[in-house]
Amino acid sequence: MRNKILAANWKMNLTLPEVELWVKKFNGFNWQSDTKEVRVYPSALFIPMLQNNFSHVGAQNFYYEPSGAFTGELSIEQLSSVGISSVLIGHSERRELFHEDNAFITQKVKAAADKNLSFILCCGENLAQREGKTHLHFIEQQLKSALSSFDRSKLSLLCIAYEPIWAIGTGLHANAAQITEMHAFIRSLLLELFGSDASSVPVLYGGSVNPENAASIFSCPEVAGALVGGASLDPHVFHQLWEQL
Ligand code: PGA
Repeated sequence: MRNKILAANWKMNLTLPEVELWVKKFNGFNWQSDTKEVRVYPSALFIPMLQNNFSHVGAQNFYYEPSGAFTGELSIEQLSSVGISSVLIGHSERRELFHEDNAFITQKVKAAADKNLSFILCCGENLAQREGKTHLHFIEQQLKSALSSFDRSKLSLLCIAYEPIWAIGTGLHANAAQITEMHAFIRSLLLELFGSDASSVPVLYGGSVNPENAASIFSCPEVAGALVGGASLDPHVFHQLWEQL
């Protein structure tokens, strides 16, 4: 059995003093578990300092080329050289605000897999797709495209996060029936693409997870944990999620 995952995606939040305070507060809670793991995805600036405190620190973003004239970007090679554990790929904020299309995301998957770096591949439909009942088809297209050159021998690197766009940072969250349907769909798609080994690929939920809705989300079949934005910025709230996982 693989560990359940509680992943903090801080996005572009927290300054150095705030990160230091976060760690101090975090250390005041009990995070011991044989069945669950915490992951932290901070701004890249803070990765090295956080590695002293956390066994799994990842990067929110990178560019797929190994090196070169790409001002402002970080490569997998650079991130791996400081010992990061994983990367996020395909987050809807990257897709929407920074115009990362499916072809771009396929390249990022390839770059991470080529370097044997674990990654969380995010997918999620918008509200119009949900209301128009094209959400399953849309997720299928997103995942099939992102994983089109991904080899099943690397499946242990893969984790999926289903994050409906209409639920991210909005206070709205997918209900248990919607999550159950989508997670079952994603599992069957993974099995179709990669065979029975794909049964162990963790599939997370993300989108306005908070202490009030966490128990019902975590009890849905196939939900292996959560990718958490807003509720990860306060260690006390984050720990409330941990206790329910
Ligand atoms: P949220 O963000 O928990 O603030 O909705 C989740 C995410 O974007 O990963």
